[in-house]
Amino acid sequence: MEISRTIGEARELISQFKSSGQTIALVPTMGALHKGHLSLIRQAKKRADHVIVSIFVNPEQFGPNEDFDTYPRELEDDLEKCRLEGVSLVFAPDRDAVYDEEKFLSINIDSLNQHMCGGSRPGFFEGVLLIVNKLFNIIQPDVAFFGQKDIQQFQIISIMVREFNHNIELVMAPVERANDGLALSSRNSYLSVDERTTAPGLYRALQFIEKQVKGGVHTPKLLIEHQKSELEAKGFRIDYLDMFSFKTLQPVYTLQENKKYIIAGAVWLGKTRLIDNILIEL
Ligand code: PAF
Repeated sequence: MEISRTIGEARELISQFKSSGQTIALVPTMGALHKGHLSLIRQAKKRADHVIVSIFVNPEQFGPNEDFDTYPRELEDDLEKCRLEGVSLVFAPDRDAVYDEEKFLSINIDSLNQHMCGGSRPGFFEGVLLIVNKLFNIIQPDVAFFGQKDIQQFQIISIMVREFNHNIELVMAPVERANDGLALSSRNSYLSVDERTTAPGLYRALQFIEKQVKGGVHTPKLLIEHQKSELEAKGFRIDYLDMFSFKTLQPVYTLQENKKYIIAGAVWLGKTRLIDNILIEL
């Protein structure tokens, strides 16, 4: 397995892969790799000759009071995991290798980041698009893999690919869960033992809403409000819990047949922000 710390080194290796006509799948990550990432890598391996994993805790997607400094960094462990999965190249640049000191351009997002995580984390998706756009330009993969846990991220990146004409296929892989239903996340390591026991409550609330909607509730506002109170009673602080259009990412109050929706929530348990979602098609 090769490891590149600079864009130049990465490009050199990638051009060698490409010169022999081999295909490339990219799995972009911020490291602290868990089973969710490993599942992305395994799916990527089935789709291309080479899997490239990027590991970069992207400062541009953290707000001033967010957890950039404390975000888990486990490069040696991550490299070992990638090695065991048969990854061809890990691209793990430093900040300076990716960003210039001054930045003159930024990517603006219209309505797609008004709600969900975009609503509560201003600048987050602009930061994500900036780095993903760079990674796509540096690596020029044939296909790139993202997890459904960050479904708003996937939708916004899909639109960037379309509007900026990146010639890259995107694959959204299902949420990987612990046995008790908690969506896997690098941030789960922040949870105390008690919080970890409570944490699957978010997924259970989403499942309850899903069941009611499938059972015919097509104006889910009251149902959702009730689930919010239940979560609060268990010790969660609600950031958002709602149903959104899969296409526009806007909240939806009356559901229609033959449409795709996201039941999504973000909650705090102590210092940990958890997100999760279920996709539902009526
Ligand atoms: O989903 C993530 O881990 C990050 O947002 C990504 C896509 C690697 C960009 O930093």
